[in-house]
Amino acid sequence: MQHISDNDRAILRWLQLCLVLIFAMVILGGVTRLTDSGLSMVTWHPTGMLPPLGAEQWQAEFELYQQYPEFQKLNRDMSLAGFKAIFWFEYSHRMLGRLIGLVFLLPLIFFLLRKMVKPGLTPRLIIMFVLGGFQGLLGWYMVKSGLVSNPHVSQYRLTAHLLSAILIYGFILWTIFNLAFPQRYRPLTQSAAAGWRKASLALLTLLLITIASGGFVAGLDAGMIFNTFPLMGGALIPEGLGALTPWYLNPFDNLVTVQFNHRWLALVTGVLLIVWYIRGRSRFDDVTLQRGFKLVGMMVIIQLGLGVATLLLQVPVLLGALHQAGALLLFSALLFNAHALSRV
Ligand code: HEM
Repeated sequence: MQHISDNDRAILRWLQLCLVLIFAMVILGGVTRLTDSGLSMVTWHPTGMLPPLGAEQWQAEFELYQQYPEFQKLNRDMSLAGFKAIFWFEYSHRMLGRLIGLVFLLPLIFFLLRKMVKPGLTPRLIIMFVLGGFQGLLGWYMVKSGLVSNPHVSQYRLTAHLLSAILIYGFILWTIFNLAFPQRYRPLTQSAAAGWRKASLALLTLLLITIASGGFVAGLDAGMIFNTFPLMGGALIPEGLGALTPWYLNPFDNLVTVQFNHRWLALVTGVLLIVWYIRGRSRFDDVTLQRGFKLVGMMVIIQLGLGVATLLLQVPVLLGALHQAGALLLFSALLFNAHALSRV
């Protein structure tokens, strides 16, 4: 560990706690979706905290749900017990969001009042808080899209909600790395270092595009078809690929294309990251830099395996959640790697 001031260390610990909670929030969001629980709460009261208390309030909440298309078209035979099961997932997801808001805001006020935040960091912390609020709004905007005649949330809004969660997570993680590793390494000439830095940013961008394509697979339930690998329907180029008109809707609305794109984007990203690991692992003397490459190499293999298993087994909840967690961990590893390179 490099030398860090006491104030920075306190802020670092606090941000680490927030990050762990956000990680849990992303996974719980995934489980909420995978268990088809996300449309169980049909209203949004950003300050309301309590779940239904007692039989009467539960019945009233259930009756509210019954007025919406998910119940009317898909869940007509659902019992109150069944409703409670899906309600608790969505409720926990929302409450965890509010808890994160408090765990972020109260210490932030304390640190600001005690003047513990170093110059330059305050705007970043305020932006994080604003982005967190925006994420909640985006979540409700997504849920609303499923409360209309078609009881499925929009895949566009789901992907936006997922991507924005990952970007906020990445912003906080980068700030954590800034605090934890303030010093520079000196292993390379500046021009060689610039090449590695640019490549790490390109790989991060590609990984985010792959993650977004996964969001579309999740949003359209496109992992429930073509449950074979590597072929789709016995062919490398499956039937129905690009069949929608106008053509530009295919990557976003055509289940076959959406799954095809995610597979191939993931494989290209995966191969490039493995090459990156092989080339980078012994290129630098510093242990932190070496660790970054190793983490990326390890996580990318795990993530590819989880993706294929999720597909072959038709998206069981546990594997779906692990695959989502894997995406976040791979992103974290590459961010760690990129941050270390930015200090070269
Ligand atoms: C670099 C590798 C990969 C990354 C970063 C990645 C990322 C993601 C992400 C972020 C999601 C959305 C999860 C959610 O919102 O719940 C997803 C979904 C999915 N991915 Fe991947 N993925 C990768 C590789 C693969 C591979 C190789 C396959 C299979 C060949 C695959 C199959 C799937 C399936 C079937 C889903 C839908 C799961 C669901 O409905 O929850 N992925 N992926």
